[in-house]
Amino acid sequence: MTPTDVLREEHRVILRALDLLEAAARRLGAGTPLPDGWWPEIIEWLRGFADRNHHAKEERSLFPAMVKAGVPLSGGPIGVMLEEHERGRALIRAMEAGEPAARAARAREYVTLLREHIDKENGVLFPLADAVLDDRAQAALTREFEGVEAEQGREASVPHAEAAIERLGAALAG
Ligand SMILES: [Fe+2]
Repeated sequence: MTPTDVLREEHRVILRALDLLEAAARRLGAGTPLPDGWWPEIIEWLRGFADRNHHAKEERSLFPAMVKAGVPLSGGPIGVMLEEHERGRALIRAMEAGEPAARAARAREYVTLLREHIDKENGVLFPLADAVLDDRAQAALTREFEGVEAEQGREASVPHAEAAIERLGAALAG
């Protein structure tokens, strides 16, 4: 797998989490309670897998490698991606507290933001990365990604994250 294949695979799992978050926000907005602990758990998942793991790979490794290969840091797609990561972090914080209707509204904003963000990365940013990064840069990225996962432990792996999402999905359906 190339580095962008790894990130696309992570996007697939994040999109699944967004579908669940959307369904949960619909319930919360309608005043239907969620299973005990469900909401804090998906927030923790988003923070851990989507942000600390996935966004860290992009911000600490992929984007700097692209900048080194000549892609501008600001005023282009990388700047937009960084801004969107920050907006996502702010929305996650806002989802943690407040009235259920407000938390549901922030969650819906987060779902819309991240779906569009993932579309842009898959459709524009990753093809650009594949075009500008030579074999050496790709190999270095692969090693750095392995470093991020080693640092964060088993929880950062796709199978582990996907299993957690399947459990949350079952709990929501149950
Ligand atoms: Fe991404």
